[in-house]
Amino acid sequence: MSKKVLITGGAGFIGSHVVRLFVEKYPNYQIYNLDALTYAGNLENLVDIELASNYTFIKGDITDENVIESLFDTYKFDNVIHLAAESHVDRSIEDPLAFVKTNVVGTMVLLNAFKNCWNEDFNDKLFYHISTDEVYGSLGETGLFTETTAYDPNSPYSASKASSDHFVRAYGETYKIPYVITNCSNNYGQNQFPEKLIPLFINNIINNKPLPVYGDGNYTRDWLYVKDHAIAIDLVFHKGRQGETYNIGGFNEWKNIDLITLLCQQMDNKLNRVNGSSEKLITYVKDRPGHDLRYAIDASKIKKELGWEPSVTFEEGLKVTIDWYLNNKVWLNNVTSGAYKSYYQKQYS
Ligand code: NAD
Ligand code: DAU
Repeated sequence: MSKKVLITGGAGFIGSHVVRLFVEKYPNYQIYNLDALTYAGNLENLVDIELASNYTFIKGDITDENVIESLFDTYKFDNVIHLAAESHVDRSIEDPLAFVKTNVVGTMVLLNAFKNCWNEDFNDKLFYHISTDEVYGSLGETGLFTETTAYDPNSPYSASKASSDHFVRAYGETYKIPYVITNCSNNYGQNQFPEKLIPLFINNIINNKPLPVYGDGNYTRDWLYVKDHAIAIDLVFHKGRQGETYNIGGFNEWKNIDLITLLCQQMDNKLNRVNGSSEKLITYVKDRPGHDLRYAIDASKIKKELGWEPSVTFEEGLKVTIDWYLNNKVWLNNVTSGAYKSYYQKQYS
């Protein structure tokens, strides 16, 4: 095996797409998926590759120092792609400390284990930290986030991600750990937990439930199809310059209300419902506290240096995503039973 790649959070939404891509594309790498299987982690996301000979799943919590140190001792992971995180802004408003624990402390535990394992022998090693555009805060009506935009996080989630980014960079400067960081915009696609806007609304439309639009719906996000993000991660992992940050985005800004209207139209078509029936479910609700007005990424650095750009248009990606949720009702029912019901009740009652 030419590399032993530890992927954290590989049972989650983006992580499962990254694990699949690496397992299938690099049979000579051993891929270790370390995941605590929180509410957001789901091994059903990976049934198609779970028996691959170059794949190992390890259930474990990145905040558990003893476990993580002994895993590095046993397996000698030489490359890390770190995705494990608490990832939902609304949950961070309810329980900020859980975000500090996983996103900040968990990242520190991994950095220490990586550093201790390789003891300055960092040749051919890499710590790749996956981050978010939310660390840059909020844009007004114009402008784009670049890699040099000052950090200005507004939610406990984005503050915890910003903090973890700083620690990765600090470990690079102080201990010479070889690292790279990417900050990506909003992902959508198959296997996303239905707490995030697009899968939540798909699920509610299927079930004829209200579509809770925060505030006036005039917030803007830049959407990227998850498999395009996984392709970017593969490129940065292999060709990105160490010690660098790359922004990843979809060149695809949508105001929430326009995106929701498009989604409603596509869902009416797919479900053979009268045009306009899903739009009638739109319900304006209390705004998210500290709601960032607009995110938009300037992804020209990764395009210029590594030749990456999105391959899927939003209309195509949304169609594929809707089809996936409609064809995977068992997956959807499994993740929306149990604890999801009490989360939903608390968040939207
Ligand atoms: P997700 O919530 O779907 O998955 C997170 C995964 O991490 C889950 O499998 C969960 O079980 C695991 N996990 C959580 N706490 C853990 C712990 N203490 N130890 C081990 N595993 C743990 O998240 P996602 O949307 O796939 O995001 C993945 C990463 O990408 C995160 O770091 C997130 O900040 C970043 N990101 C997400 C987006 C997006 O739009 N979803 C955009 C940019 C960056
Ligand atoms: O920008 C990258 C980030 O994108 C990632 O780092 C986060 O992990 C990911 O959750 C996402 O954060 P957002 O807060 O932008 O995503 P979310 O899907 O929660 O919300 C998208 C927009 O939709 C936002 O303006 C809030 C709004 N919204 C969301 C929900 C869940 C609603 O109007 N109603 C809702 O019920």
